Amino acid sequence: MAERTLVTSALPYANGPLHIGHAVEYVQTDIYVRFLRSCGRDVVYFCADDTHGTPIELNAAKQGLKPEEFIARFHEEHQRDFHDLDVRFDYFHSTNSPENRQYAELIYGRLKEKGDIERRNIEQTYCDNDRRFLPDRFIKGTCPNCKASDQYGDACEKCGKAYDPTDLIDARCALCGTPPVRKHSEHLFFKLSRHADFLQDVLRKPGFLHPGLATQLQGFFEKGLSDWDISRDGPYFGFAIPGETDKYFYVWLDAPIGYIATTEKWAKETGKAKSALDYWSADADTRIIHFIGKDIVYFHALFWPAVLNVAGFHIPSEIKVHGHLTVNGEKMSKSRGTMVPVRDYLDQLDPSYLRYFYAANLGPGVEDLDLNLKDFRQRVNGELVNNVGNLANRALSLLAGPLEKRLAPGRAEGPGRELVEAALARVPEVREAFDKLEYRSAIRVITEIASAANAFLQTAAPWAQVKKDAEVARADLSDAADVAYLLGALLAPVTPRVSEKLFAQLGAEPLTFQSLEGAKYPLLDRSRPIGTPEPLLPRLEEERVNVIIKLPEGAAAPQAAEARPAKGAKAEKKPAEALAATQAAAPSAGAAESSGEIEYDDFAKVVLKAGKVLAAEKVQKADKLLKLTVDVGEGSPRTIVSGIAEAFAPEALTGRNVVVVANLKPRKLKGIESRGMLLTAGPGGKELSLLDPGDVAPGSEVK
Ligand code: 2FM
Ligand code: ZN
Repeated sequence: MAERTLVTSALPYANGPLHIGHAVEYVQTDIYVRFLRSCGRDVVYFCADDTHGTPIELNAAKQGLKPEEFIARFHEEHQRDFHDLDVRFDYFHSTNSPENRQYAELIYGRLKEKGDIERRNIEQTYCDNDRRFLPDRFIKGTCPNCKASDQYGDACEKCGKAYDPTDLIDARCALCGTPPVRKHSEHLFFKLSRHADFLQDVLRKPGFLHPGLATQLQGFFEKGLSDWDISRDGPYFGFAIPGETDKYFYVWLDAPIGYIATTEKWAKETGKAKSALDYWSADADTRIIHFIGKDIVYFHALFWPAVLNVAGFHIPSEIKVHGHLTVNGEKMSKSRGTMVPVRDYLDQLDPSYLRYFYAANLGPGVEDLDLNLKDFRQRVNGELVNNVGNLANRALSLLAGPLEKRLAPGRAEGPGRELVEAALARVPEVREAFDKLEYRSAIRVITEIASAANAFLQTAAPWAQVKKDAEVARADLSDAADVAYLLGALLAPVTPRVSEKLFAQLGAEPLTFQSLEGAKYPLLDRSRPIGTPEPLLPRLEEERVNVIIKLPEGAAAPQAAEARPAKGAKAEKKPAEALAATQAAAPSAGAAESSGEIEYDDFAKVVLKAGKVLAAEKVQKADKLLKLTVDVGEGSPRTIVSGIAEAFAPEALTGRNVVVVANLKPRKLKGIESRGMLLTAGPGGKELSLLDPGDVAPGSEVK
């Protein structure tokens, strides 16, 4: 039987909303799983809420809820967030589940049987007032090193020094402010120190862990591995330890067991496996891959394999570690508004933008990923919307318009065929990049393929050719559509909903990495009619991003140029008219920065075309607007609403040659969708003239 792969992402605490930093890991994992599936691999993807521990217990109490009620709320919320982020688990479970209790008890029982659990009497910090032992994070005081006040019991946030809670000056309970006392209690320890040789062998296995991290972990072996305290005294929200009184498994013991419990639940619910042991028994032919952040490597690469090994389970095959998210080069911060809940993002924007940007910046290493907001817009708009999106739209709108949705048969030779074959030749590069988690390289190749196809269309100019020889235009457009189809397959792990739309518009079955093996030109079934084209994804507007992520004071993003009043435009204009007037007077590359200057690359993104006005009429209840029908050489003319009614009577416009901004995101003005904008000159109002490109064919590029 072919090897089966089980993939996990780290379990989020059921203690708060997911934020865009969490999303890095889920998106990275989801892309990998979708990629493996597209290659035809047998893969399952699991996750669960991490529900136990003191912070959850206390936060629930603060809200007057039972911990079970508190975690149930986040369970719902997390599932919705994952779904809307297009992250698709085979099962999303909870560590507070019967399956997890069953496996936690089973594993603990085995550790005990093997003599790997030891009882020790230890002294810890205790609050007499709250009658509980205090985890380090619940003790505050003055740093013994730099004397900064209000520091936690484990490390100083000011000077970075790690210490014991007993070292804090003026320590107090973070819950009630009482000075804590020291108190003895019996704890259960897992004898990790006995497994140093086993763990070092595991760390040496090729592919188990990023070599740099494996080297870092060597430091622990040099100092000597400490045994691991796996019990906590009540009150505690967790599983009671069998045979003990008022003792609970430490949250970090049962959290990774949640991976097994989720497999068990999935097996029971779907019948796709007999039990979790199909994947997790020591001799199962499975590849187990954990995706985690760099802060929890110690738990996954040391405790977890040792526990699994002693208990007779399959150990992880690979641990994929990523760095953290920064926003505009800085650590995310709640107070600066950069720790954005995933829901706030999803309320404004399609998940495809974020998934694309993360992929475009992710490699296999542990370096942090920066969500630079300017870069975010530019890459998404330049690569996904303009490059890939325009290719599909250019090819399909002409095919759907004058060419009646019919494709041409494949050609024996010529540049169109060469274009598709060259694109196909790059599939192994993309496949290998995804496989190695080198997503940024996969994205680079994908955008190069799209650029080549756009350049091909630019040269072939099917919008002009269609009037001379429709069949030549059809053949060129069909070859471009073939490349769009291929891009749909290559991008599907990253932006699945964009690919779904693309496949539907092409009237084709989803294309996968598996079906691409040995695939030959032509890719599309050329005898099938295409579907109905529509823009794949709107441009990512600066205003929308600004709504989600508030920049730190002093660095506030400038108003988008499109929303600034144009020179001479009166500030009191109603929004729709003001916008139209602005569009008429101030073309924008959509990337103006605070100096008002833009890069050449920004300007180059604006596609200007010659157009011919076929018809013009007044817009009801809008004195300044005209609705124009403009031939831009695309088969079907565009509707453009323009704020030029004070300067031109409609009848004076018919037949006029105009310059159109052709890649502007459509906007509704007075309920009419306007697709583009006319260039004008002059102060505005009655004093406007239309830019005339001269006597060139509609669709000619203005450069
Ligand atoms: O660090 C965290 O957010 C933990 N909740 C991750 C747990 S992953 C696994 F071990 F369960
Ligand atoms: Zn207290």
